Amino acid sequence: MKKDRIVIFDTTLRDGEQCPGASLNTGEKLEIARQLALLKVDVIEAGFPIASPGDFEAVSTIAREVKGSTIAGLARALKKDIDAAAKAIEKARKPRIHVFLATSKIHREFKLKKAKQEILKQAIQSVKYAKKFADDIEFSPEDASRTEQEFLNEVVEAVIDSGANTVNIPDTVGYALPGPFGELIKNIVDNVPNIKKAIISVHCHNDLGLAVANSLSAVKAGARQVECTINGLGERAGNAAMEELVMGLKTRKEYFGVKTQIETKRFVGISKLTANLTGLHVQRNKAIVGANAFAHEAGIHQHGILSKRNTYEIMNPKDVGWEKSNLVMGKHSGRHAFLSRVKEMGFKLSKEKLNTAFERFKILADEKKEIYDEDLLAIIEDQLGKEEIQYFSLEKFKILVDTETTPEANVTLKFYDGKIKSSRASGDGPVDATLNAIDKITKLRCRLSDYEIRAVTKGRDALGEVSLQVEYKKQKVRGKAAGTNIIEASARAYISAVNHLVKKQQEA
Ligand code: KIV
Ligand code: ZN
Repeated sequence: MKKDRIVIFDTTLRDGEQCPGASLNTGEKLEIARQLALLKVDVIEAGFPIASPGDFEAVSTIAREVKGSTIAGLARALKKDIDAAAKAIEKARKPRIHVFLATSKIHREFKLKKAKQEILKQAIQSVKYAKKFADDIEFSPEDASRTEQEFLNEVVEAVIDSGANTVNIPDTVGYALPGPFGELIKNIVDNVPNIKKAIISVHCHNDLGLAVANSLSAVKAGARQVECTINGLGERAGNAAMEELVMGLKTRKEYFGVKTQIETKRFVGISKLTANLTGLHVQRNKAIVGANAFAHEAGIHQHGILSKRNTYEIMNPKDVGWEKSNLVMGKHSGRHAFLSRVKEMGFKLSKEKLNTAFERFKILADEKKEIYDEDLLAIIEDQLGKEEIQYFSLEKFKILVDTETTPEANVTLKFYDGKIKSSRASGDGPVDATLNAIDKITKLRCRLSDYEIRAVTKGRDALGEVSLQVEYKKQKVRGKAAGTNIIEASARAYISAVNHLVKKQQEA
């Protein structure tokens, strides 16, 4: 392996699956493993075969079915564990046995109740035993980051001599900090005499939110394998997230000077698959694969992105599997983003109509969290359908509705010459009351021959589109308007129809 090549070891199906609430069946594990192979991870740790018959079955199925990546099975430094792991991976094209044994003082004294020399002996024997079944052996001194450096180096040297090709340095409890963890790795590089015969790996947990930072620091110090999981799944606070690690190395390659063979365009897809199968969804602001990772709402940022994407993005969303950056239309969006989206949607509006549409958009954005394309479409269509002459326009209205009394509406309209007039009316419902009040002002008693309302967007704050037909002296005209307030949309649609009607009458 070249010196600048980082081996990506995925443990989503083993440490990731140890995450509370994330258990997967064999079929689901196989589906994820196939995607991991397409992602081109170097090693897939498929499970812990001795742990349960289900785990054994999953590891052996993946070993048999998945090509391309090395398939690893985990084992404690015990014969029965190694036997189970060896059997489970025997059909793999590239099999690996991963043996682990705790080395830290606290684990030696309270968990294993063994002295240093006993641990050393067990580590050597287990690696030698595993070597009978596979060429590719990885050894992990569990809780390495809390192990005395001298003893850790002694164990590392001994297991390499016994046949381990990879020595993995786990920060089992997520205790490490980037600086000291990098120094720990550097100490191994500088002081273990046979270290060149093996690859140094790291396996960091995220208890302090530092799993990725610690792994990157270890790479800088000489580690050439990193263990990680999709979406950062794993025991407790999880493991280092593969997508963050790999994109860190890629985005700052001038600093690290290393590369992986990962097909990064597959990150979003595999993240969604893993989230759906485990039921553990990533937060919106999760780096790389969260829904907001490439979303911009602030007007200043949107303007920057439209002029040059790199102003506010350090990675290309396409490189990790997103279609494009997402300029979220909301109350912080500016005119630039609005115009760009209208154009993107294929509309050409006059300057005046664009201004009105933008004003409507801003009002809607104040009422609604996120503005979808359907919302914009309704606003634009509303503008495109607008008559040049507004005989009447809605100034304001007030509705009185309760369960006891007849609905009542107070409506104020503006005439095309600027005159203002108000009226009050009741009706069968709030819409009927509003239209009656409008009729009183326009002095046109129209018949509503068609009325339709549909939600054009999803959710409780959806935008409602009202489309209606009005008849007056055998003349039929239509009106359309949209808004989150459906009474207001009904009033605007009706007024729009009345404006058409007046125009037609004048033409006649
Ligand atoms: O966290 C840990 O120490 C482990 C080992 C088995 C590598 O998961
Ligand atoms: Zn772990």
